[in-house]
Amino acid sequence: MMFARLLSPYRCPPMKILVANWKMELGVRESVALARGVVRGLRGLKEVPHVYLAPSHPALTDVAKVLGRSRVLLAAQDVFGEVQGAYTGFVSAKQIKEVGAGAVIIGHSERRMFAGETDADVARKFAQAVEHHLDPIVCVGEPAAVRENGEALAYVHDQLDAILASADVSKRRRLIVAYEPIWAIGSGVTPTIHDVREMHRAIRERFEEAGMERVSVLYGGSVNSENVYEFVSDSEVDGVLVGGASTRLNSLMELIGVVSEVS
Ligand code: PGA
Repeated sequence: MMFARLLSPYRCPPMKILVANWKMELGVRESVALARGVVRGLRGLKEVPHVYLAPSHPALTDVAKVLGRSRVLLAAQDVFGEVQGAYTGFVSAKQIKEVGAGAVIIGHSERRMFAGETDADVARKFAQAVEHHLDPIVCVGEPAAVRENGEALAYVHDQLDAILASADVSKRRRLIVAYEPIWAIGSGVTPTIHDVREMHRAIRERFEEAGMERVSVLYGGSVNSENVYEFVSDSEVDGVLVGGASTRLNSLMELIGVVSEVS
C-alpha cells in the first residue's frame, strides 16, 4: 500500500524502449560518429521510441554533447556502489550524472562474470543509481544449466529480490529491467517468445507484489533486425536491450525503425 502511494506518479513510458549497449566495442570517435548518425537518422521522424545509447565511460562526455537536446537518451554501462572515496578506477553515480547520462545499466552478466559482481554488489549499484536520479536498467537472467534444470524463474526471482531489498524505491524515477538469459548473449541463440513471455510476466508479478506495477521489462540477448519484431510486437515485451547489432549504424537504425513501428 505504502509503495503504491509513493510510486503513484510513475507511469510506464507509452513508447517501447531500445537500449544500445556498445560494451567495449567502440572507441570514443566511433561512438561519437555512431551517435551522430542516430541523431540524424531520427530527425523528422514523428514516432520515436525511447532510445538509450550506452557507450563506454570514456565516450560519455562527447556522446552527451552530440545528443544535446535530441530525443536520444544517454546511459552509462556501469556504476560503482559507493558514493565517493578511495576507490581507484571506479566511477560513481554522481560522476555519471555530471557528464550528462540519465540512466545506467546495472548487473549486466558480463560484469557479473568478468568483474565478479554479486547480487549484493548489484543491489548497492541500484541504490546508488536511484539515489542520484539515474534511471536504472537492471539486467537479470539465468545461465544455461539453470534453464535446463527448470530453475530459471526461481533464479531470476532471487536476483530481483536482492534489488528490491536495496533501495528507497520512492526516489526512483523510472525502472527498467532487462531479461537477458546469459546463454543468449552474443550467441545467436534466443529463447522462444513463449519463454520470454513467461519470464517477463514473472518479473512483473514480482514487482507488483512489492507494490510497483509499472516496470518496463525488456528482452536482451542476440537481438537483431531479423528477430526484433517478434520480441517487440509482444505485449509482454516493453523493448529490447541490444549489444552487437547496435554497434553499426545500419543495423541500429533498422532496429529503431522496427521498434518505432510497434510503439
Ligand atoms: P548481444 O548482447 O545483443 O550482443 O547478444 C546483449 C547484451 O549483452 O546486452
